[in-house]
Amino acid sequence: MKEKLDNIKNQVNQKVKELKDMQSLNELKVKILGKKGELTEILRGMKDLSPEERPIIGNLVNKVRNEIEEVIKNAEDLIKEKELERKLEEEKIDITLPSSKIIRGSKHPINRTIEQIQDLFVSMGYDVVDGPELETDEFCFERLNLPKGHPARDMQDSFYITQEVLLRTQTSAVQARVMLANKEKSPIRMICTGKTYRREDDATHSHQFNQVEGLVIDKKERNVSLADLKGTLQVFVKEMLGNNLDLRFRPSYFPFTEPSYEVDVTCFKCCGKGCNLCKQTGWIEILGAGIVHPNVLKMNGYDPDQYGGFAFGTGIDRLAMFKYGITDMRYLYTNDIRFLKQFDRKD
Ligand code: PHE
Repeated sequence: MKEKLDNIKNQVNQKVKELKDMQSLNELKVKILGKKGELTEILRGMKDLSPEERPIIGNLVNKVRNEIEEVIKNAEDLIKEKELERKLEEEKIDITLPSSKIIRGSKHPINRTIEQIQDLFVSMGYDVVDGPELETDEFCFERLNLPKGHPARDMQDSFYITQEVLLRTQTSAVQARVMLANKEKSPIRMICTGKTYRREDDATHSHQFNQVEGLVIDKKERNVSLADLKGTLQVFVKEMLGNNLDLRFRPSYFPFTEPSYEVDVTCFKCCGKGCNLCKQTGWIEILGAGIVHPNVLKMNGYDPDQYGGFAFGTGIDRLAMFKYGITDMRYLYTNDIRFLKQFDRKD
């Protein structure tokens, strides 16, 4: 029996030296200590021993078992350490290698233009407000003095979702929202930028575009006048398009302003001499504007005898095109990276 135990011990001591990985170690464990292992076999044979022999051999078996377990445990630690070392070696990162280039995005020209407009008007004390793109007929038209059946509705082809809900055709809808939400009926000085939608299907128009709306309302005695509107738009246009440009106000019609104007700016391509961009007129139409119609004030909770003001609106996409010399509107919407990359710079 003792001989057998010594054999097993020697065998383990020998094998342990040859172990390469956890798998061969586990195999050895099973072979010796497992259910059908050699040492377990000996323990099972103990029942055939005489009562005198049993404690002696039992002691011996336990001693050998402890020794073997210790040897195996040490081998296990060694293997684990080696495996860790191998892994660390394999996964070593060479920090001296050159890094891969990080490609930086750039702001879209429309967003750049929007931010510039917002910064300018904030600097003049305006609030920047937001409104829903999915708008009701009430706010997009009715509260702007455009009742159902009004012929001026034909000026803007609309995408209706239901009879009452549509994609807003103009940010003017936000005028009514701001006036109505202002419970104290205090003075208003706001701009709103955002997406608008019209059913246009010719090559120079997109069904979705961006507008900026401006609205100023104050007490009658503060006398917010056409002169203020002109001055404001002058600052706006000069900041956006350049200093040496003139503005021209042409009488026009919008249901929510009276009087109404279309505002032209000197053609910045030919400086007013006449070219293909301005169709030889020397002027380019850029804005709609006017003095807020008394009906609009009344419908949205402002007494037209006590309050007055001006409003203006313009397409941001066209402004961006003029500002950056973009010749085709489709460039703004096709997300061609070669086009967008050109705006990866400060203004
Ligand atoms: N909402 C008008 C348009 O889309 C522009 C406008 C705004 C005109 C405010 C007058 C006052 O054409």
